[in-house]
Amino acid sequence: MSNFSVGHSPESLGMWRLSVAPMMGWTDRHCRYFHRLLTRHTLLYTEMVTTGALIHGNAAQHLFFNDEEHPVALQLGGSEPADLAVCAKLGQDRGYDEINLNCGCPSERVLRGAFGACLMGEAALVRDCVKAMVDVVDVPVTVKHRIGIDKVESYDFVRDFVGTVAEGGCQVFLVHARNAWLKGLSPKENREIPPLRYELAYRLKQDFPGLTISVNGGITTDDQIATHLEHVDGAMIGREAYHNPWLMAGWDERFYGDASRPVPTREAVELAMIDYMERAHAEDGVNWYSIASHMLGLRHGLHGARKWRQVWSDHRLKPLPPREVWAMAQAHVGAPRDETPFEPSVSTH
Ligand SMILES: Cc1cc2nc3c(=O)[nH]c(=O)nc-3n(C[C@H](O)[C@H](O)[C@H](O)COP(=O)(O)O)c2cc1C
Repeated sequence: MSNFSVGHSPESLGMWRLSVAPMMGWTDRHCRYFHRLLTRHTLLYTEMVTTGALIHGNAAQHLFFNDEEHPVALQLGGSEPADLAVCAKLGQDRGYDEINLNCGCPSERVLRGAFGACLMGEAALVRDCVKAMVDVVDVPVTVKHRIGIDKVESYDFVRDFVGTVAEGGCQVFLVHARNAWLKGLSPKENREIPPLRYELAYRLKQDFPGLTISVNGGITTDDQIATHLEHVDGAMIGREAYHNPWLMAGWDERFYGDASRPVPTREAVELAMIDYMERAHAEDGVNWYSIASHMLGLRHGLHGARKWRQVWSDHRLKPLPPREVWAMAQAHVGAPRDETPFEPSVSTH
């Protein structure tokens, strides 16, 4: 089943039709490179980078990405318009296709720094932040947010937030369709406990038909994506894309109408990742281990997946070249289920 209209090019369907959510500790450049092997058109987001890290830290290192990752969006965390403008410009100059402001992250560290989800209570400030960025960059400036904070359940709150922020020049909103409870829940609980209310994101699209609205939160299947796309412009997928990345292998064809590139095989993707690991090691001294951690879901649900995963996540194998690790992992591909733990047969000392 196809979910695009005949005559639409992938580009005209909109940059935000599908995206992989920003996830700290997960969607680093290695992870994004891996995801790009599975889908050509899906928009990929960086982890959040704070303005402080960019202004006072090693900006080149924080902003580094591989050319293959396009289209790729930089997510910023901050609440100072002038600082955000500086960082948005840095991001554009580095080649990012979009600058996104995080107004959805509820973690304490973020609260103390006065950015993330607490900014939803300060719509005028967010508008000013957006305007400061829009004034200095040509790429789209977008906002990722929740539908409310704490116990504020009314639709009016998120409608007024979006309306105000749009005045600053933001035309794209990525809506994580649950509240953020700023006290009492961990960030993880805040991604699970506040109920999902997709209909609020749908209403935003009805009330602001000129804006691009993407819905996020709890999406795990292609059919769910298709349903959302009947109501809004885009769907953003986080944890399921990370844990079950093969889901993405069918997206170009189903959601962008692009069958020009055959769906890759898992084997081909794994081999391409080994080439990448070798290159990352030669060029930047990166150990394969920190790259492989992002592809452990590749064989999700298949026979032998558990042992295959155990090999690729075995820290004792770190000193080996990735091609040798691959050969060990290959031994388990397609093998019947076997619950005995993996033991490397070579000495790695
Ligand atoms: C490990 C992890 C880290 C995350 N880090 C960020 C982040 O840096 N910025 C952000 O806006 N959201 C972050 N999120 C939230 C996701 O972007 C997304 O909104 C959330 O997981 C809900 O989507 P899902 O149900 O498809 O995973 C993170 C989520 C996870 C699981």
